[in-house]
Amino acid sequence: MIKVAPSILSADFANVGQAVKQMEEYGADYIHCDVMDGMFVPNITFGFPMIRDLKKYTSLPMDVHLMITEPERYVERFCEAGADLVTVHAESTPHVHRAIQMIRNCGKKPGVVLNPSTPLEQIEYVLDDVDMVLLMSVNPGYGAQKFIPQVLKKIEKLRSLIDQSGREIEIEVDGGVNEHTAREIVAAGANVLVAGNAVFTAKDPAAMIKLLKQA
Ligand code: DX5
Ligand code: ZN
Repeated sequence: MIKVAPSILSADFANVGQAVKQMEEYGADYIHCDVMDGMFVPNITFGFPMIRDLKKYTSLPMDVHLMITEPERYVERFCEAGADLVTVHAESTPHVHRAIQMIRNCGKKPGVVLNPSTPLEQIEYVLDDVDMVLLMSVNPGYGAQKFIPQVLKKIEKLRSLIDQSGREIEIEVDGGVNEHTAREIVAAGANVLVAGNAVFTAKDPAAMIKLLKQA
C-alpha cells in the first residue's frame, strides 16, 4: 500500500490546524512536518510547539523531518512534543547513530534522510536501526521544486538493500512528487510519498491524494 504524507510546508501557516484536520479527512496517512533551522537549510519554519498543538487536530502519525544542524540536541524534545516518526539527515551531524538511538529510546520511530547527492553507502551501518529511509528528490529548504530524476536509481538500489535485509523499512520520497512523477517513484520501490505543492494547490486535494496512492 502506498502512503501519502502531505507536507504542511505548503499550508497556510495561519491555519495549519484546520489543514491537518482536512488532510486526515481526505485520506492522508501521515502529516509531514518540515522543521528548518536556517543553518542546515537556508529557510526557517517551526519547532516543537507546532507539533504539540497540531496533535489536537489530528490523530494521524506526525512524520517530523528535521532539517537542522546537530539534531541530537533536540530529538528528545520533538518526541516529547508528540512526533511519531523522527527523521534526521545523515549530513546534519557526525552523530547520526546517536540521534537515531535517542529517538528509539524515546519509544518513537527513527528514520534517516539523504540529500540528493549523498550516496547510500553513508547509511550502510545504520540501516538496521531505522524504520524509515527518506530520500530527498529536491535540495531541502523549499517546497514546489522540480523532481531530480537521478534519485530514481537510488530508490531502486535502496529497495534491493532493504529487501535483502529482510526488515520492514519504509522508503519515503520527498520533493517534486506529483501525479506525473509518482508512478516512477513507486515503480522504483518507494512506499511513502511526501507531497506539499501537489496536494495543497490541487483543486480537489482529496482526489489528488487518492491519485497519488494509486500511482
Ligand atoms: C523540502 C521539504 C519538503 C517539501 C516538499 O525541503 O522537505 O517536504 O515540502 O514540497 P513539494 O512537495 O512541494 O516539492
Ligand atoms: Zn520534508
